[in-house]
Amino acid sequence: MTSSHPTVALPGEPGAAPWWTSAVVYQVYPRSFADSDGDGIGDLGGIRGRLEYLAELGVDALWLSPVYPSPQHDNGYDISDYREIEPVFGDLAEFDLLVAEAHERGIKIVMDLVVNHTSDEHAWFRESRSSRSNPKRDWYWWRKPQGDEGPPNGWGSAFSGPAWTLDEATGEYYLHLFAKQQPDLNWENPEVRQAVYSMMNWWLDRGVDGFRMDVINYIAKQVDLIDGPAPATGGGSPMGPQIHDFLQEMHEAVFARRDGEHLTVGEMPGVNTDDARLFTDPGRAEVDMIFQFEHVGLDQGANKFEVLPRSLPALKKNLAHWQDGLAETGWNSLYLNNHDQPRLVSRFGNDTEFRYESATLWALVLHLHRGTPYVYQGEEIGMTNVRFDSIDDYRDLESLNHYREAVDQFDLDPGTVLAGVQTMSRDNARTPMQWDGTEQAGFTTGTPWLPVNPNHTEINVAADRAAERSVFRFYQRLIALRHESPVVALGSFTLLDPEHERLYAFTRTLGDETLLVVANASDTRLDVPLPVDVTGAELVLANYPTPGGGSALGPWEARLYRL
Ligand code: GLC
Repeated sequence: MTSSHPTVALPGEPGAAPWWTSAVVYQVYPRSFADSDGDGIGDLGGIRGRLEYLAELGVDALWLSPVYPSPQHDNGYDISDYREIEPVFGDLAEFDLLVAEAHERGIKIVMDLVVNHTSDEHAWFRESRSSRSNPKRDWYWWRKPQGDEGPPNGWGSAFSGPAWTLDEATGEYYLHLFAKQQPDLNWENPEVRQAVYSMMNWWLDRGVDGFRMDVINYIAKQVDLIDGPAPATGGGSPMGPQIHDFLQEMHEAVFARRDGEHLTVGEMPGVNTDDARLFTDPGRAEVDMIFQFEHVGLDQGANKFEVLPRSLPALKKNLAHWQDGLAETGWNSLYLNNHDQPRLVSRFGNDTEFRYESATLWALVLHLHRGTPYVYQGEEIGMTNVRFDSIDDYRDLESLNHYREAVDQFDLDPGTVLAGVQTMSRDNARTPMQWDGTEQAGFTTGTPWLPVNPNHTEINVAADRAAERSVFRFYQRLIALRHESPVVALGSFTLLDPEHERLYAFTRTLGDETLLVVANASDTRLDVPLPVDVTGAELVLANYPTPGGGSALGPWEARLYRL
């Protein structure tokens, strides 16, 4: 397949690299970012009001979690109209203003594309469910009950319970890999595919700069498992091999004739580096990069709420495996948290005594990997997990469904289940952005849809920016560094001391320039010889005011040297 898409330049030819190799993307979760009208829910006006802040941070693009009309069962990941704006967030005119004002500041706007499923209130699904003979019946996955009136196969939903729900009126089951209000579209039907491509073109023509594609590898299903004689059980990936055809067709229909200035990033649970090379090889024209899940699954047991002990060697080696896997072909995206994950400083760092140090350590480590870093709102000021005392305070349906299933059906101890929710719930990332120390953290003048984290009196944008040790300013410097420095964007990656339990060290090299990262990912001083001699090296960035020099690293101390 031919394409106008630029190829990722080889090390040594930075001039030819696509813009996103030296870019940093900032994820906005609109509900929780800034509320401009006092209804307790963030909105487009709130984002517009904070564009200057984002420009000062220096980010190149904003990825907006879904802002389309939605019954909000899954906070907008259940879309009822693809060509409108959710009234709670604003309207199309205001959206156009947001795009224009972002563009004036050199910031691109990336939309969330949720097309594995729609809302069950989308007109397409309403038609589809209306009768077995409706022309849109085949736009979704309808199947007869198997055997004893059971579901067509044993797939489980990602949000607990079976992935099939019986529609009483027409006597058939529909497939939903997520909540029952999120029926899966049938991408085998070419009309579905064309409808999605046309909608994508509509947004791009309107001025948006790309898409973050929600669980996009799931659009292609293992049809033989759905229609197979033996009910397939849950677990494993539902992804079918035709995924590559679908993505290439999408690229051809939507992106090939455009200028290459857009960004496509596919969220893809369950894929490995071999898959990722295929997805992100520029020559294959599928997507620019993907969000993989291996590194955020390392501390999860049978389900995400069963928390396993964390191991630094396991994390380092996994990320290095992805660096190596996409070194010659393809491209990584880099993230340690987002709207579906706990806060990185609480999960990987120390969010009390060494909050500044560990937040900046992980920032330095992540941004110095090769790939495009994604900053999730609040990460840039070191926001932490929240800890609600009662399950009733949680809003996320994944957490609530899990709790009910574990306690009511499996009879597990409520205290233990709640502890898992407190550690892993998506609501940890979704409490309102902490702008200042006032009652609702400057997020809203009303009552926020999810309580603000009580620690906003100390942790907030105003306080951080006024502090000597500012997480925000550290991110500013990292972002600027990526813009200025081809070795940060494109240099090759080598992990040092992979088995070390506390030291995170690696080099990046491009031509005759080498950078070294050394970091002590622990609460206590680390007194080992550095893996590389730094005599005479330039200290580019550090999170301690006067690095002791020599080899000892303080708790969560991180340094970047140019050798
Ligand atoms: C993705 C989204 C998540 C959503 C799910 C279903 O994983 O990131 O927030 O709940 O897809 O759309």
